[in-house]
Amino acid sequence: MSEKFTSVHYHSYLQLDKILDAQHPRSAQVEESVAHDEMLFIIMHQVYELWFKQIIHELESISLMFEDNLMDEVEILKAVTRLERIIEIQKLLIDQINVMETLTAMDFLDFRQYLFPASGFQSLQFRVVENLLGLKQEQRLTYNNLPYDVVFSETQKEVLERSIENKSLLTHVIEWLDRTPFLEFSKFSFLEAYKKAVERMIQKDKDAINASEILSEETKKQRLTMMGDTSTYFNAVFDPAQFEEMRNRGEVKFSYKAMLAALFIFLYRDEPILQQPYRLLSRLMDIEEMLTNWRNRHSQMVLRMIGRKTGTGGSSGHQYLKSTAQHHQIFTDLYQVATLLIPRSELPALPEELKQYLGFYFSSHEHVKE
Ligand code: HEM
Repeated sequence: MSEKFTSVHYHSYLQLDKILDAQHPRSAQVEESVAHDEMLFIIMHQVYELWFKQIIHELESISLMFEDNLMDEVEILKAVTRLERIIEIQKLLIDQINVMETLTAMDFLDFRQYLFPASGFQSLQFRVVENLLGLKQEQRLTYNNLPYDVVFSETQKEVLERSIENKSLLTHVIEWLDRTPFLEFSKFSFLEAYKKAVERMIQKDKDAINASEILSEETKKQRLTMMGDTSTYFNAVFDPAQFEEMRNRGEVKFSYKAMLAALFIFLYRDEPILQQPYRLLSRLMDIEEMLTNWRNRHSQMVLRMIGRKTGTGGSSGHQYLKSTAQHHQIFTDLYQVATLLIPRSELPALPEELKQYLGFYFSSHEHVKE
């Protein structure tokens, strides 16, 4: 057997001597008897950090796939599979909070005083995950009016720097959507066809309200005004200048072309070639949703554990964490697209030639005949 394939023992392969020797409750160093639940507190955090490491591993590999601008069907499937793995891990991360909550508020107080000023706020890997996904620095809530990285050493700051040096997953996805073909095809313009369909749909809705025998004149007026509010979303899609203004105000992150491409993919996702891109976009929404769920769940647990006390890291605690769930979202543009969806019955028919491009080679009638 070559040197490369010498046998290995379970313990040495997993370096269990290191991992299992990494739990040292502080209460044991200060008090006569260790606070029983501190072991759980340490192991919970360590397990999270291991899963963060796996998520970073997957995210970095997915970003590399986008790097060469050749995201084809095979690569998309691979990226989707890895995103699905991240989602399954995120589900575990949320579920594990139930285990954390077997620690009661009173038992936590047995050792909480030994933790200052340590805090999950100092989790470098959590920040790297946020950066790799595409959380913008200017979007971050300030921490006691200081930048979020103030809690890190110079070496740790270098790791953080590296995580924002390369393009984030969000940027890769925007650029990939920017390159989506088919929005203009021969004489077909997706935007023109979509605009007519929306106008038709809105007119039908208005006619239905006006024709209603049940609604009073006042309610009709109210409903029609509310419809006007919805159509401002649509107007931004029809007017690139208005969209650009929204982008400058930081209300959207996607480019105009990327937003149209995402809309096209969502509307025509049944076409074979668009099925994998649709899955990719949907998985990104899942990741966003899971991350927000974790933030909400963690902040709710914190409320139960320490009430309205400030955190060991010095933030306002529950209130700060609740706000991150709202402000630290990344793929919000994909949710805007949901506003723009129209029923299948209103969907403009695609020209036959374009449908053939979007179908699999063998499913085209022309090719079957050959
Ligand atoms: C008794 C259990 C826990 C309590 C009471 C708690 C409390 C807090 C508090 C109050 C903060 C806000 C920052 C501060 O002022 O300290 C925070 C942040 C954080 N905690 Fe926990 N935590 C607990 C368990 C966990 C666990 C198991 C993890 C898993 C890694 C975790 C990860 C984080 C992260 C990543 C942040 C930063 C969130 C952000 O800034 O968006 N926490 N925690």
